[in-house]
Order: sequence, then structure tokens, then C-alpha cells
Amino acid sequence: MSIAIAIDGPAGAGKSTIAKAAAKHLGFIYVDTGAMYRAIGLYCLRNDVDPADSEAVTALLENIDVSLARDENKNQLVILNGEDVSGLIRTEAVSMAASRCSAIPAVRAFLLDLQRNMAKEFDVIMDGRDIGTVVLPDAKVKIFLTASSEIRARRRYDELIEKGQQAVYEDVLADVIERDNNDMNRPIAPLKPAEDSVLVDTSELNLEESIALLIKTIEENK
Ligand code: DC
Repeated sequence: MSIAIAIDGPAGAGKSTIAKAAAKHLGFIYVDTGAMYRAIGLYCLRNDVDPADSEAVTALLENIDVSLARDENKNQLVILNGEDVSGLIRTEAVSMAASRCSAIPAVRAFLLDLQRNMAKEFDVIMDGRDIGTVVLPDAKVKIFLTASSEIRARRRYDELIEKGQQAVYEDVLADVIERDNNDMNRPIAPLKPAEDSVLVDTSELNLEESIALLIKTIEENK
């Protein structure tokens, strides 16, 4: 039987970086489910479809194939209809499109089997919004990883600047708050801690401390 660790939390809590490092340390496969929603968001933008238009996005799904692969360093790659879009999905426009299309029931259903099958096959640390509540309700350890919205916006801003993208802190903060609202208030699979999850708050921690706390929390609870 494979072991699953579910990590949920809001945008910019450092989930992906922290969970990836913990997965490497523990020898688990890291699965970033947000990247799958981002691939669908990107497809909507490329095809001029409003990612909030449930009917139009649902109709698009039959043209979409999303899968995950690994590069030689075992980093996750996101493949959209045969194309590696791992870099293209990391823009603010795609973040917002992903947040919007992820509220559409057909989009969530489309990705659910893919996510569950990965957890059946491998020991995974899976990161997202509804992993502990919906995707893997029987996960061995469930973690809700969070940080204050200001800290999360600051981290996202620094990341964008480092990548050479243009950014204004106030705009990034407004996006973080809007995305939290979208993710927490949608009727289907809203972002919320699973009842049996452990809360990990990284507001006051640097990256190394956050990784160490996550590994400790997993080891104490698995
Ligand atoms: O984790 P991320 O920022 O890459 O996620 C992008 C969007 O996808 C986010 O706004 C919410 C959505 N998402 C989701 O609804 N469920 C998941 N399991 C993962 C992401």
C-alpha cells in the first residue's frame, strides 16, 4: 500500500517549495495539483475562453489532455496536449485563470481521477486546496500550510522579481486576497483545513525552518 501525505493551503504559503523539499528528504513523489489547474487556465487563455464561463470551459475539456512527467532531476513537468508548459503556467494571468476555472465542477472532476491514480501508484506528497478534504480523504497525514496574506504576497512578489517579471507589491497583495476569496468561497471543494489536519504556519519562519517543521510534522504523524 502506498502512503499519501496531503498538503493544502492558500496561494503563496510556500507549499510547493516546502513540500518538494520534504518529499525529496522522505523519498516521496511530489505532486503539485495546482499545476494541473494552471494548465487548463492556460488553455482557456490561449483559446480566448473566459475561464469563469462554466459552459464554455466544460466544452473545452474534451480537447485537453493534461499529464505530469519528471525531468532528469525528478522535477515535475506539466504536459498539456504533448507540450511541456511547466514554465508558461507560472504567470499572474495564468494564476488567476486557474483560480477561476478551478471553481467549475467539470474541471475538478476531470482532474480528480488523475490525482487519485497517482496516489494509488506511488508514495506521494500531494499539494493543493482540497487534497485532505476531497481528493485523498484517507491520507496518512494531512497538513494545512499557511502564512499571513501580507507575507504570502511579499514572497510571491520577490519570486516574480527574481524571475525578471514586472510586479507591484500592492497588486500582488490584491491578487492574493482575490484568489483566497475565490478559493475559499466556491461552492465546490472550497479551500479549508480538513478536520483531522495539522496546522503549519510559516509566517515567522524562513525557508529552511519551514521545511524542517514540515518534515518534523510529517514524521511525528505518519
Ligand atoms: O497552487 P497554485 O497556486 O498553483 O494553484 C492554482 C489555482 O488552482 C488556485 O487558485 C486554486 C486552484 N487549485 C484548486 O482549486 N485545487 C487544487 N487542488 C489545487 C489548485
